[in-house]
Amino acid sequence: MRIVIAGCGYLGRVLGLGYLKEGHAVLGLRRDPSAVEALRAEGMHAASADLLDPGTYPVGAIGADVAVLCQAPSRRSDGYGVTYAAACESFGRWAVSHEVRRIVFVSSTSVYGDLGGEWIDEAVDPLASGKHSAEARAKAEDLLRAERSILGSGVSACVVRSAGIYGPGRNRIAAVRGAQVPAATKGESYTNRIHVEDLAAAVRVVADKGVPGEVYIASDGSPSTQGDFYDWLFGRLGVRRLFDGCLYTDDQTVRPVRGEANKRCRNAKLRALGWTPRYPSYKEGYEHLITQGE
Ligand SMILES: NC(=O)c1ccc[n+]([C@@H]2O[C@H](COP(=O)([O-])OP(=O)(O)OC[C@H]3O[C@@H](n4cnc5c(N)ncnc54)[C@H](OP(=O)(O)O)[C@@H]3O)[C@@H](O)[C@H]2O)c1
Repeated sequence: MRIVIAGCGYLGRVLGLGYLKEGHAVLGLRRDPSAVEALRAEGMHAASADLLDPGTYPVGAIGADVAVLCQAPSRRSDGYGVTYAAACESFGRWAVSHEVRRIVFVSSTSVYGDLGGEWIDEAVDPLASGKHSAEARAKAEDLLRAERSILGSGVSACVVRSAGIYGPGRNRIAAVRGAQVPAATKGESYTNRIHVEDLAAAVRVVADKGVPGEVYIASDGSPSTQGDFYDWLFGRLGVRRLFDGCLYTDDQTVRPVRGEANKRCRNAKLRALGWTPRYPSYKEGYEHLITQGE
């Protein structure tokens, strides 16, 4: 198959390498030319392109079997309205007239507000339930506009709403080891995570078997409170706590732990497509990272 991965950053690279390993042709797109070189060095086709400007899309993207959109803000000027809503509108319009057969857009579970720790699934209306700060609501609206534009583009498409991504090079191990950031927390707010390899697998399953027009939540299915997560990680790494119930930041300021979007995400709909996470909770995921030295 010919796969295009637009916004080929942390997730996109892992996804692309997985497709490559199975013999598919992968074209990774992002704006930064030096990052494009790095993708090429790992065996992918790659090009510098801006999702906002179809004039920059390479010819190789025409007729792709699968296009995965997994862009995220990386520049100061990148707001959600531009990075998600405008970029998805632009790509969706282009894709339908350039024979792209399938699109998967990677959105975020941050569209859901603070639901007081309730369990949620795809049937929950993100804006109608839960509380959003004004900023969170504006971001959620932009993400939902992006989702709608891809699902309504005329191309067979699905959305994957990802929980917080962690994995090699993106995790809390160094911060806790250095006791630089959270020394100890008693955060009662639930957080939802997914290991990058499991997310890449989820995107692939949705690309293969997802029902067009559907949204799938990708989360390991084992939400934990911030407090439980840090208790476990401090204990596992044997790092002494400096403060209790607070965040200890680089600038030595002690701040109380803040609950943001307190909810617990189910993943049954994704599992029903045949996806099973290799790391069903942060414990397995972090254990693997720690033993691998990552
Ligand atoms: N990180 C998380 O915890 C998290 C949580 C929930 C959902 N998600 C979603 O998961 C997906 C993958 O996230 P990630 O962590 O892999 O992101 P990432 O590492 O930041 O990579 C995304 C890449 O998108 C590129 N990009 C941004 N705007 C672009 C544009 N207009 N045209 C082309 N490329 C553009 C950026 O590279 P250039 O600057 O080179 O263009 C950036 O490196 C995103 O859709 C994100 O919203 C992430």
